[in-house]
Amino acid sequence: MAETRLGVDDLIAPLFVREGIAEPQPIASLPGVVQHTQDSLRAEVESLRTLGVPAVILFGVPEHKDAEGSESWNPDGVVQVALRNLRADMGPDLVVMADLCVDEYTDHGHCGVLDGQGSVDNDATLDLYMRAAVAQAEAGADVIAPSGMMDGQVFAIREALDDAEFDQAIILAYAAKYASALYGPFRDAVDVTIADGGDRKGYQQDPANARESLEEIRADVAEGADMVMVKPAGAYLDVIAHARAELDIPLAAYQVSGEYAMIKAAGANGWLDGDAVAFETLTAIKRAGADMILTYFAREVAETLAAR
Ligand code: PBG
Repeated sequence: MAETRLGVDDLIAPLFVREGIAEPQPIASLPGVVQHTQDSLRAEVESLRTLGVPAVILFGVPEHKDAEGSESWNPDGVVQVALRNLRADMGPDLVVMADLCVDEYTDHGHCGVLDGQGSVDNDATLDLYMRAAVAQAEAGADVIAPSGMMDGQVFAIREALDDAEFDQAIILAYAAKYASALYGPFRDAVDVTIADGGDRKGYQQDPANARESLEEIRADVAEGADMVMVKPAGAYLDVIAHARAELDIPLAAYQVSGEYAMIKAAGANGWLDGDAVAFETLTAIKRAGADMILTYFAREVAETLAAR
């Protein structure tokens, strides 16, 4: 009689792939998650697919970072290589998503190119995103997921993809993305430190604002987003519920690194039952209205569901 049922179909596994390493590297603040080599990534994806996880989203950690994040559109960049490998391994049997941002690729750690004052130049950044989107689609991404929160990014990427004849490529817009302290462990995962103690409050949303999310979502839908995302998830269930009530397109939610790390840490201390809390929080995110959930628990939950 349960109104809400969490299934393996709901899950999208975020995966990190790093250039220039011989062995997978553990991430201290994300126990159980690693920076993959190209080979270990292929093996992990194969096993996730066998467990029934229908989709993955890739994040790259390049060896070389520069002011513009040029590795994000290099055809031989770490994520583009991974996309081609996974496409070759999985054919059409897996939905492969690519996070589109330059923060993992810039030496200053911002999601865009900087102007003379050290602020992100919104419009100059759109040109970089257009290049990266085409490179990702060329390499085989089914879904391009812009996460940089630049104004006009969805429209710019849609144009670039259509012009390059990737009109079938899907855009999942990180539409309502908050400037959250819950992204802490992710920055370890992608080796990002924002220069000069900076933050992303200039382009990500203020956690105090909920209505603003609907404005962001409406803008992205008008610009051509096929699906939209709310991020983080657990502390923003009201935003997910409001978005669900307004939208008739698929809605994703991202249970981010800090949400995962908190549950893992408390579980490891014996302060709560980490597995049960993982299920409960994911069920709540679905109950609030998410059609799909990006979560670092994807593998564990899929294993538990398979054993039931
Ligand atoms: C930006 C991006 C971030 C996350 C996903 N995409 C970091 C940020 O905006 O600072 C965070 C995901 C997580 O915390 O799990 N490329």
